[in-house]
Amino acid sequence: LIAGNWKSNKTTSEAMEWLQKLSAISFQLSAKECSIVLCVPFTLLYPKRRELDLLRLPILLGAQDVSPFEDGAYTGEISARMIKELAEWVTIGHSERRTHFYESEELLIRKVLQAKKEGLRIIYGIPDSQTSVPSDVDIVAYEPPSAIGAGKSAEDPIEANKVIEDITVKQNISAETLMIYGGSVSPENIASFVAEPSIDGIFSGRASLDAEKFSELIQNASNA
Ligand code: PGA
Repeated sequence: LIAGNWKSNKTTSEAMEWLQKLSAISFQLSAKECSIVLCVPFTLLYPKRRELDLLRLPILLGAQDVSPFEDGAYTGEISARMIKELAEWVTIGHSERRTHFYESEELLIRKVLQAKKEGLRIIYGIPDSQTSVPSDVDIVAYEPPSAIGAGKSAEDPIEANKVIEDITVKQNISAETLMIYGGSVSPENIASFVAEPSIDGIFSGRASLDAEKFSELIQNASNA
């Protein structure tokens, strides 16, 4: 699974440009080799949904957050029910949300419950092997903060594989749950991550912002 995470980036017109570029790169997405999920800001869910359907690109959409409440008097929040109309996935527990928005385990569990109730599939981020994973998430993204963002370098793939195995065993993660790695993944290093036996895919921030690089990530992962 290749998941892109646009974080707080791109206006609607920039997002449309990205899609046009991607479809122009004779984008050979072989759905049988990998699934592709793109997590975008809320403002882009509707236009992306429409364009992806028009262009018939096999990319599933994800939101980057969800309200811990149902619909109602919660100013500024986007509920799971609203997301479900436009996206299949949601990412919860990214370390940037834990750090910059002080999201606690308790809050994250409430978000997971709301997402589950609406049938959204969940990519749950954890920064290390000690952080607990709620039951019933679909994907666990192990993303060491020391490897996330500009100026950082990716963790050694062998080490990332070991941590992922550790998480799987110690937290009794079910065999159906995919385990992915995130943090400075690039077209150059993606093959070394997906070649590891316990790494089922990757979560990419910066590389996913560039249509050409995103397409290369998919090609290089498929070839590996
Ligand atoms: P990065 O971000 O690829 O820019 O390091 C990864 C992530 O936060 O998902």
